[in-house]
Amino acid sequence: MLDYIRNCLDDLKSKNLYRSLKDRDEMAVDFSGNDYLGLLYNKESIEAGRKAAKIYGSGSSGSRLLSGNKAIFEEFESQIAADKNFESALILNSGFIANASTTQALSIPDGVLIFDKLNHASMYFGIDPTRAKLVRYKHLNYDELEDILKKYVDCKNKIIFSETVFGMDGDIADLRALSYLSQKYGALLFLDEAHATGLYGKNGLGLSTDFEFDPSKTLVMGTFSKALASSGAYIACSRLLKDYLIQKSKGFIYSTALSPFCIGAAQYNWRLTKTLENERRRVLELAGVLREKISDLGYNTIGAETNIIPIIFEKMNDALSVNQKLAERGIIASAIRPPTSPTPRIRLAVTAAHSESDLERLLEALK
Ligand SMILES: Cc1ncc(COP(=O)(O)O)c(C=O)c1O
Repeated sequence: MLDYIRNCLDDLKSKNLYRSLKDRDEMAVDFSGNDYLGLLYNKESIEAGRKAAKIYGSGSSGSRLLSGNKAIFEEFESQIAADKNFESALILNSGFIANASTTQALSIPDGVLIFDKLNHASMYFGIDPTRAKLVRYKHLNYDELEDILKKYVDCKNKIIFSETVFGMDGDIADLRALSYLSQKYGALLFLDEAHATGLYGKNGLGLSTDFEFDPSKTLVMGTFSKALASSGAYIACSRLLKDYLIQKSKGFIYSTALSPFCIGAAQYNWRLTKTLENERRRVLELAGVLREKISDLGYNTIGAETNIIPIIFEKMNDALSVNQKLAERGIIASAIRPPTSPTPRIRLAVTAAHSESDLERLLEALK
């Protein structure tokens, strides 16, 4: 066993795919985080977390089905359901757990899970191939999705999974097409709003709020860990689907509920997000200008259209060397390795905490 493990690590190192933890330089300008609205150090949000901890404790002491179901969970779930136009919502401990537990719970006999190829690893993680089949369409290729739906027209247990804003490419799914195709072919639809939450849709609460979906056949997941500057995630859906997930999601049943601090801070930031229209506009405007200037420098930023700007490289070595050179100039920018993303890249995310001079500093360094 240990020989296998040593060989595996050596192999990753030889291919430049070896990952390591780095100390963060607090003085550096950080373009690698997902704190899109700049709320991480917001005093009122931290105070709201503290207040919840004072009332409900520093931890939850048990799973939601045992001792962990504090009133604050249900309050927040009702609020999320109302804001997302669903009957109900279920809070889970992280986006990863929400996604993996859903693909696990919906891996049902004769089921077909239909994926955009660039879906996040957490969705893949829960699939049980002994029960359900995974079929994938090329990223954002809805003609291919329709071909797949036609092929499985007689299958009663099919569900389409897609991110709304894709976390690595920074592009946006065609939600009208997903809504239309899922209804036309009788498929359930699961949307991951991890990167849309905070920046897109009505009141910044996710893109799905801008489109019409069949609320009895759609599940919308969003995280509290990115723009909402906390931890945890929700799935908004019908009462029937929530009930099913409570019975079948292993990540819900077998894990201690989220800490009340996280819920208190996330709930505060959920409400606050509704008032941050100007911050949203500014982030997206800054990102648009930055993307254009980076392309003008000759870098390949592919078709990104959000605050997430990927710079694509053919070789991992090149991405790592740019990452290193930026770090020497006081800029943190993640170098992302396959299979996290399909190609080596530097992933930049513009947030409300960035100033114009931060962007200038980045551009100067990239030059
Ligand atoms: C698209 C997407 N979904 C889900 C997750 C997982 O969310 P969390 O970090 O809350 O576990 C991530 C985060 O990395 C993500 O990018």
